[in-house]
Amino acid sequence: MQAPRGRNVCLIGFICYAFPRPPIHVMKTIKPLSAALERQISWEQILSSVEDGVITLDRSGKVSFFNEAAEMLTDLAASRAMSLSFLRIFRKETWLVELIKKSFPPTQESARGEGDLVSRWGKKVPVGVTVSPLLEPDGSCLGSILLVRNLTHHKELEEDLKRADRLAMVGTLAAGLAHEIRNPLGGIKGAAQLLRRSLDPDSSLLEYTNIMNREVDRVNLLIEQLLDLSRPAKLEIVPINIHQVLEEVLSLELKTEAGPTVYVKKRFDPSLPLIRGDRNRLTQVFLNLVKNGHQAMNGSGTLTITTRLETDRHVRGQGAGRSRFIWVEIADHGIGIKDEDLLHIFSPFFTTKNSGTGLGLAVCYWIIKEHGGIIRVESVEGKGSTFKVSLVVAD
Ligand SMILES: Nc1ncnc2c1ncn2[C@@H]1O[C@H](COP(=O)(O)OP(=O)(O)OP(=O)(O)O)[C@@H](O)[C@H]1O
Ligand SMILES: [Mg+2]
Repeated sequence: MQAPRGRNVCLIGFICYAFPRPPIHVMKTIKPLSAALERQISWEQILSSVEDGVITLDRSGKVSFFNEAAEMLTDLAASRAMSLSFLRIFRKETWLVELIKKSFPPTQESARGEGDLVSRWGKKVPVGVTVSPLLEPDGSCLGSILLVRNLTHHKELEEDLKRADRLAMVGTLAAGLAHEIRNPLGGIKGAAQLLRRSLDPDSSLLEYTNIMNREVDRVNLLIEQLLDLSRPAKLEIVPINIHQVLEEVLSLELKTEAGPTVYVKKRFDPSLPLIRGDRNRLTQVFLNLVKNGHQAMNGSGTLTITTRLETDRHVRGQGAGRSRFIWVEIADHGIGIKDEDLLHIFSPFFTTKNSGTGLGLAVCYWIIKEHGGIIRVESVEGKGSTFKVSLVVAD
């Protein structure tokens, strides 16, 4: 967060320009300003505390100020960014370069846009950017100012709403179909059992009756999972120790899915409080997540499970007020998820596996939502994925 001292006057001008009618949160910053100045708080310090990224460019397009939020958003230290041209910093973000160019002569216009910032590690952060020219009183160009807002949370909420709609639709459809399908399935299973009884014990046809039985069970399970999405899960909420649930999941999973070369690293916070949850449902969630992690690593690699207490208090659920919550993170070094798939993985029937149903994550999403929690994913194709689940701490 460096800026040459002489630029302070300019920065005051930038703020007036950037916030012609200050929104409430800006007013809060501006009100104690005179007091702040009395206490010799510099403009750099004030701008450093702004939650949005603030970047100023001089008239040659080089960075002259880069606040802390800008460092976080770009994954770039201010000391490195200073004096670099915006063309270099945003070389992967052509949409942003075009936007910034508008604030320089000959156009010298303000412009807004939305797009992704791509970090050095390939991680994408959705942002909204406002670019404005910095002008001398005589109208000559001093440079440009960028206000960069992180839209991740906003986009996640939008996606949550769309997902809830899709799930509600699938649920209604499933509830209608389930009844119609279950009856004939019962008939097929009964007929297969009668057939089995009438066959010689050494008949080669016996195997076919086994297949019929197995497949009927598979379809029944599918219908059960679909119904899970349609009816509000009846949760039996009690205070539970999430570490016990995770240990149980790991012992179940290691017996079945994991190959001999899967290593599980547990980074459990021993001081974690009990959470509010339905033990069976949460076992189902973490079993799905751990299974997906193993499958993504093709049975070999390290799966890291981390638990931690969130230090912030957040507003959750309808009318739930403010509560404390914990995070469980399951990270694999598997194949990762393509950007274009990330939007769909929680949708019912989305699968990239030959034998997958694509219902695992949709069910997880629903169960966690019913718990008043959140489920999120971060993934880089070819590097791995981290699924994060938040759950509310028991009173
Ligand atoms: N840890 C992961 N790494 C990479 N891709 C994943 C991971 N978890 C989920 N996915 C992607 O999300 C898709 C949906 O996952 P989901 O668990 O819902 O269904 P599935 O695993 O394909 O099938 P099922 O759970 O019925 O066996 C997967 O097919 C895969 O493409
Ligand atoms: Mg799965």
